[in-house]
Amino acid sequence: MASRDPRGTVRTAVVWDALTDALGGDVRDVIDLGGGTGGFAVRLAEAGHRVRVVDPSPDALAALARRSSELDLDVQGLQGDVIDLVDVVGSAGADAVLCHGVLEVVDPALALDHIAQVLRPGGLLSLVVAQRHAAVVARAMAGHFVDARALLDDRGAGGSRVGRRFTAPEITEMLADAGFAPATVRAVRVFTDLVPAALVDLESGAAAALADLERAVADRPEYLPLATQLHLLATRD
Ligand SMILES: C[S@@+](CC[C@H](N)C(=O)[O-])C[C@H]1O[C@@H](n2cnc3c(N)ncnc32)[C@H](O)[C@@H]1O
Repeated sequence: MASRDPRGTVRTAVVWDALTDALGGDVRDVIDLGGGTGGFAVRLAEAGHRVRVVDPSPDALAALARRSSELDLDVQGLQGDVIDLVDVVGSAGADAVLCHGVLEVVDPALALDHIAQVLRPGGLLSLVVAQRHAAVVARAMAGHFVDARALLDDRGAGGSRVGRRFTAPEITEMLADAGFAPATVRAVRVFTDLVPAALVDLESGAAAALADLERAVADRPEYLPLATQLHLLATRD
């Protein structure tokens, strides 16, 4: 059946493929930190994994509960955040932690430290962060040249509504500092955010061809600075 949100499917294709590949065929205990309404969590539960979502937003957790009950899935929603992650999920630990789109709005070093504490040794971290250079280009293309210049070397949250952005070397170094073994880094959404929506939504076969193109460049380092997001997979030492 064709997806009702072709661009949404394309946006997550690279991350989803790499994540499911890394999780393998066994049932895993997965924590989705800042998992929101459960876009990934629900799909992982459908694939048979035991999934808990930790998020500070009661509205997001309510939407997650509705979504998972409609599909007759058991995804546990826990209200909490990076600060109290260890207390909220308990000491039993997890085989994998997803942290997608969250490091932008929290203290990244602290968050990685708390994630390392809830991961079992050898456990998997799936990290998605906003990539800075694509945002610089996007601002310049929109005519916001002063903003683009300010963002160029900005390692902090920069007062931006969407928070902090990272380069591939910066986030790789942060992971190593937090005790994670060297990560794979993939380029995510290199083209998807640049393409007119109508082209992807209305033209037959366009979404699948665009997803193929995204997959083809995801592992090419020369595309990392063009990507809206970076996807890193790392294991706890
Ligand atoms: C951009 S959304 C990403 C949602 C989801 N992970 C995804 O990739 O679609 C950011 C999420 O982080 C959550 N969040 C915000 N502050 C947080 C914190 N301090 N600790 C954990 N999650 C937080 C928000 O409630 C929201 O659900």
